Amino acid sequence: MSYRTQWCGEVIETMAGSRVQLAGWVHRRRDLGNLVFIDLRDRTGLLQLVFDPTRQVAAHAASHSLRNEFVITVMGTVVMRDQERINPNLATGHVEVIVDELTILAEAKPLPFLPDDHDEVDEAIRLKYRYIDLRRSRMHENLRLRDRTVQAVRRHLESEGFIEVETPILTKSTPEGARDFLVPSRLQPGRFYALPQSPQLFKQLLMIAGYERYYQIARAFRDEDLRADRQPEHTQIDVEMSFIEEEDIQNVIEAMIRRVFAETLSVDLPCPFPRLTYAEAMRRFGSDKPDMRFGMEIVDISDLAAQAEFRVFAETLVSGGVVRGLRAAGAGSSSRKDVDGLAAVAAPFGARGVSAIWVEEAGIRSPLAKFLAPEVVDAILTRMEAQPGDLLLLVADTESVAATALGALRSHLADRLKVERQGWSFLWVLDFPMFEWDAKETRYKAQHHPFTRPRTIDHTELTTRPAELGTYAYDLVLNGVELGSGSLRVSDPKMQEAIFQTLGLGEEEIRTKFGFLVEAMDYGVPPYGGIALGLDRLVMLMAGEDSIREVIAFPKTQSGSCPLTGAPSVVSNDQMKELRLKTI
Ligand code: AMO
Repeated sequence: MSYRTQWCGEVIETMAGSRVQLAGWVHRRRDLGNLVFIDLRDRTGLLQLVFDPTRQVAAHAASHSLRNEFVITVMGTVVMRDQERINPNLATGHVEVIVDELTILAEAKPLPFLPDDHDEVDEAIRLKYRYIDLRRSRMHENLRLRDRTVQAVRRHLESEGFIEVETPILTKSTPEGARDFLVPSRLQPGRFYALPQSPQLFKQLLMIAGYERYYQIARAFRDEDLRADRQPEHTQIDVEMSFIEEEDIQNVIEAMIRRVFAETLSVDLPCPFPRLTYAEAMRRFGSDKPDMRFGMEIVDISDLAAQAEFRVFAETLVSGGVVRGLRAAGAGSSSRKDVDGLAAVAAPFGARGVSAIWVEEAGIRSPLAKFLAPEVVDAILTRMEAQPGDLLLLVADTESVAATALGALRSHLADRLKVERQGWSFLWVLDFPMFEWDAKETRYKAQHHPFTRPRTIDHTELTTRPAELGTYAYDLVLNGVELGSGSLRVSDPKMQEAIFQTLGLGEEEIRTKFGFLVEAMDYGVPPYGGIALGLDRLVMLMAGEDSIREVIAFPKTQSGSCPLTGAPSVVSNDQMKELRLKTI
């Protein structure tokens, strides 16, 4: 039996008079007794069917039994709709099909919810019945956008001479620093594979193996706390290139992103993307992934604060700290309680307090006012470009606390004040520090990963000034979201050894964790580097969604479970025995 001659969404005015066969789901039905109208849905859209007893008695009689989400195939004739029945909101809104033959292919029970974009449904229910949720046009659009994005990425990278190579899923721990998902080995009881947190080590080996231009649309697994932009398994556009400087890889990625936006959204992105160093991004925006679609830059007023008679400022400055602030334009009507709320936003970043200055026509109102001479007030207002009606927020603390606390306030205020944020703002953040000090574990940790090339060829500097070392590590940021991270890698075995030493990794640990890579570094390593972009995050932003779950066909919930399949689930005793495992 044949099912269709035509897609629903492609039946248009010029086809009036033709006979068509269509197939799909009953999206909506209106049974007026005399006439029965059905919106038939297939993957291309909706089309109105009409069952008219004056045209075909049997089909009309059968159509009374149709219910939502029945699967049917029909034969009929395309006609122009009467003027009053035209639906301008539907691509096929000028035509309808008068049905003369109806076959019900499958019935459907009453549904837990209708795959209608207007129906607000709890996410847990949506995920449990994901196959119904995925029938929504919004989900179809998102998954198609994802597909078109991947196709454009592939076209671009193939045209630049990259080849896609698959790397193992059952592997060893990789260096991204999250917790691993482990898979027990049956053949070697007591041993475990780790699912890769990224293809990092393998793509490095492919460079050593001379492939020069690698990419992979790769699945990466990380057992970490989940958020709207984090899933336990995510997809990376993973890229690695040899004989390059950092601009080379950035140029390839920029051209790829421009192509994706042009081909999928018809958006012509300006190039080159702006670049900021990590230090500048932190100083001006208090974040290594600033949203540059609005200003609200952080202003340093340490020199002016030094002239205040205020103990907190004086103590902070004497101990090498800074006093910095933000101008919340038009937020002058905020109450003291609102300001307490802002202090609570800054607190998790270590800020002990937030001082507020209300700027008014007649001057300022602030608990600080009594400590500030009029000329100091004037200088602060001028430097911060304050206007009557503004609220100024100051943080006195170490440079990094002031930066991150004000960065958090900046994002918070942009939401609260509904600051206009339109368009696409790409940004490269460059020159990340090599190490960050982990005060809890009292040791250095790699900011990116231990294979990142420091901005020095002298490996003794790894011990003499580790905290000051910059790197050839770069992030790509879009609208305040970290889209991707990458770096040039270490090709010099001595440098690699010095990095491991600074990280406090013992020889045994190095050998068991990355021994194969360290060994490979003795056999001819080209200069090389790469990057990985989060595909889910990219498509989420392109689709205008707030969560990556909206652009993943079968995502996990915040607690890492899949309401559809019930994973993770208990396994049988036999399986446990076979793997020689016991739960405690
Ligand atoms: P990184 O760990 O920064 O770098 O990851 C690269 C990009 O992957 C995305 N991403 C995630 N997306 C969703 N859920 C997650 N849990 C998640 N974790 C990361 C982000 C991030 O920028 N091997 C290195 C890259 C390299 O050096 O080439 C790496 O994986 O968008």
